[in-house]
Amino acid sequence: MTDQTITKDKNEPVYVVDDLIAKDIDAYLDQHEHKTMLRFITCGSVDDGKSTLIGRLLYDSKMIFEDQLDALTSDSKKVGTQGQEIDFALLVDGLAAEREQGITIDVAYRFFNTEKRKFIVADCPGHEQYTRNMVTGASAADLAVILIDARKGVLVQTRRHSYLCHLIGIKNIVLAVNKMDLVDYSQDVFDKIVADYTEFAEGIGIESFTAMPISGFKGDNITTLSENTPWYKGPTLVEHLETVEVISSVDADKPFRMPVQWVNRPNLDFRGFSGLIATGSVKPGDAIRVLPSGKTSKVSRVVTFDGDLDEAVAGQSVTVCFEDEIDCSRGSVISVADNPPQTADQFESTIVWMADDALVPGRAYWLKLGTQTVSATIHAPKYTVNVNTMEHMAAKTLELNEIGVAEIATDKQIVFEPYAENRALGGFILIDRMTNATVAAGMLHFSLRRSQNVHWQALDIGRKQHADLKNQRPAVLWFTGLSGSGKSTIANLVEKKLYRMNRHTFLLDGDNVRHGLNKDLGFTEADRIENIRRVGEVSKLLADSGLIVITAFISPFQADREMVRSMLPEGEFFEVFIDTPLKVAEARDVKGLYKKARAGELKNFTGIDSPYEAPRDPEIRIDTTKMSPDEAAELIVNTLLGDA
Ligand code: ADX
Repeated sequence: MTDQTITKDKNEPVYVVDDLIAKDIDAYLDQHEHKTMLRFITCGSVDDGKSTLIGRLLYDSKMIFEDQLDALTSDSKKVGTQGQEIDFALLVDGLAAEREQGITIDVAYRFFNTEKRKFIVADCPGHEQYTRNMVTGASAADLAVILIDARKGVLVQTRRHSYLCHLIGIKNIVLAVNKMDLVDYSQDVFDKIVADYTEFAEGIGIESFTAMPISGFKGDNITTLSENTPWYKGPTLVEHLETVEVISSVDADKPFRMPVQWVNRPNLDFRGFSGLIATGSVKPGDAIRVLPSGKTSKVSRVVTFDGDLDEAVAGQSVTVCFEDEIDCSRGSVISVADNPPQTADQFESTIVWMADDALVPGRAYWLKLGTQTVSATIHAPKYTVNVNTMEHMAAKTLELNEIGVAEIATDKQIVFEPYAENRALGGFILIDRMTNATVAAGMLHFSLRRSQNVHWQALDIGRKQHADLKNQRPAVLWFTGLSGSGKSTIANLVEKKLYRMNRHTFLLDGDNVRHGLNKDLGFTEADRIENIRRVGEVSKLLADSGLIVITAFISPFQADREMVRSMLPEGEFFEVFIDTPLKVAEARDVKGLYKKARAGELKNFTGIDSPYEAPRDPEIRIDTTKMSPDEAAELIVNTLLGDA
């Protein structure tokens, strides 16, 4: 083993990062170019000896500086280590304690290497947040070491960790039966645990695993085969880690796919598409297809910083050039021509919810899949999975750390493959559109057939022809504000003004639409979201027909208004905030609804017991305490037409 290591500074022997940042990995790879890399995750609680095992691996690969070793030896003496010189758990737990002083890090990555391979081990601390941490740590792992305390056998926790690893698609599972020294290296104990685990593993679809009896504490079967377990004929842990097949070598045998990260165009003579090859290989002369457009060409060059390559494989970052000038941009996927991935906009998926705020079915989130980012809505889950018992349970939403199966609809076609076949094109994250926080990770199972059988019909008379005939630019004036703020009154005046100016308009009003199209909807959060989604779709159709659409809905949620904005061409959506303070609207109380709400006779009333999120940056803001309805209408019309 070598004592090669990456360090930030001398006192920090092990490089701990909160996220696997590409440049850190690149730096690491540069140092060990010739070796393959195995990423693995260790699962088990501190009691199972996880810290001791990681400490042992780091120690045996000489990842620890001498001065740190001295400190460890004296600390170990203080706590007493049953005659053992060093308590390895102290090393890792010490790092954990260091972390707790700073910002919380969900997953710590440690790097070490042997003569044959370099390793990144993801260590996921935390118990309550275990699902989230584990999914993060496991998402890039080739292998999982599931630790079992030989005295305790297969526990609920073992099942949960195994299920999550299997869900994430980790094919290589090591069942490390630890603390064998405490059961007198008994083969019977080991065999019984393996039999129990086999039964469970088969039940959840784990096809194979490698079991080994070890002692992280004493070092049995870690780097050398132990004399204490003569009955064990398998490899040592390190030997196994050094020889097991890694994902990138498995991925290299699959059909070629490369999500495009950016278009490399330094001058007019060069145009290439850069990205990380997800699967397969590519060489000059290969016939390729660009998705989702479906256009084909041939590869003319495969370029890297170090010059052109004869061939590049999965795991390499390259720039690919084509023989023809075909459309290709960030988010496109370059594929082998005759075996492309699918495109679709509706899917079944498994979702792991990672945010404190629960999933809001129907709300638009950003869905990021590789280099593609689209707007997506999630249906209410079909069921959630109890990770301790594997039971399926009925659910309306997903809470923190819950895992569920749900349908997803995206606003555009995305290029994908089932996660089980291709992690890069089947794994996604969901991002909250307001806070930009990652709220979930997920895996696409398959596209829904209805999304493949409903095709967009190309029509000869399009939105341009409709607008030209009406001699105007379509627009949506989206009024938002509290009940009684004056939306309907001002919207009505705006429409009258436009009408007099020979503009073609249509006004959609909350109360009216709720008598017809949306009479099945109430005022829960989910119903309001659906209300706005439908009104958004109708507004879009009306705008497509060339009209100036005016809508008057409370539309209390910023995310939903943003969703409507993103449905329309740039510059066509005007958010008009009718800014009337709650106390003013309540004092007017035109419909007597505030009074009812205060008396508790009307539930979920906006401003009283249901929230209103004021627009952050509306195109037009009307302060009704300073402006008459007529002045407001004047300002709105001028802004609209001035812009037109
Ligand atoms: S939204 O929140 O979904 O956009 P929308 O504008 O369609 O609401 O409907 C609001 C109108 O419904 C109000 O002007 C009021 O007349 C009526 N209404 C009845 N119940 C409620 C409620 N709980 N909250 C708000 N408005 C209500």
